[in-house]
Amino acid sequence: MSIKPVKKAVLPVAGLGTRFLPGTKAVPKEMLNIVDKPVLQYIVDEAISAGIEHIIFVTGRNKGVIEDYFDIQYELNDTLRNRGKTAELEMLNSIQPKAGSTSFTRQQEPLGLGHAVWCARDIVGNDPFALLLPDMVMQDERGCLSGMMDVYNQSGGNIISVEEVAMEDAHKYGVVGIGKDVEGGFEITDMVEKPARGSEPSNLFINGRYILQPEIFDILATQERGAGNEIQLTDGMLKLAAKQDFFGYRFQGNTYDCGTKKGFILANIAYAMERDDIRPDVINEIRDLTK
Ligand code: G1P
Repeated sequence: MSIKPVKKAVLPVAGLGTRFLPGTKAVPKEMLNIVDKPVLQYIVDEAISAGIEHIIFVTGRNKGVIEDYFDIQYELNDTLRNRGKTAELEMLNSIQPKAGSTSFTRQQEPLGLGHAVWCARDIVGNDPFALLLPDMVMQDERGCLSGMMDVYNQSGGNIISVEEVAMEDAHKYGVVGIGKDVEGGFEITDMVEKPARGSEPSNLFINGRYILQPEIFDILATQERGAGNEIQLTDGMLKLAAKQDFFGYRFQGNTYDCGTKKGFILANIAYAMERDDIRPDVINEIRDLTK
């Protein structure tokens, strides 16, 4: 069986960001900065470096600025050019998506992650695709999705990235059951969204990176509501697992849940540590602040 390459990625960005109000009243949570780049840019960078060629954003009301962000800003570029700000201009050019390599569709109602993914069905078509949840920022030299692509290119099927979480926190996430080891990962035997305490199949939680086959869309079309009264992707994946292979990929880097205040602040500190221009000052001042 030949393995179809993964060239498209879906990024669901319709969430309201209520945990970050009032900051997210006019600015989508995905556009909040980590150091000097929007959260969403980190996710797009991870996708592109894994070989993704087309990114599909599933947006919602008040998210128009995301589309503007990925467009060329002629006036800004012209001003930078006139002022001789070549480095800034080059940086903007280097992250500019190619014409026609982004698509935007809307999730019209907040019915859950499964529904958001289903909204991308016509644009994805009959191809396997990557799914990256922008709340989860993953700091890793190689990129989580690149590691998953290595497994996928050997095994095909569906791949879910997972990592360990303290058992008392597992009920906040989707959690997988662990089967036998395969090259680069393990077979998934179960998937439960927000398991009740005591019923967790393991302490490996789904951390927001997936490679999925397009058959998931037909399942999601009729998926009934699950945890939190939302249409859950995890429930749809469990049904697909009855027909197709699902493998777990253990991510070894650092994950920051930027949907929470703590995760967002830690991500800022962690990425500041990678920046020679600000690292020493940030360390000194945090030391003073925490004395
Ligand atoms: C979603 C997924 C869940 C996953 C989590 C990672 O949940 O449904 O399986 O573990 O993202 O952040 P949500 O954060 O939307 O509740």
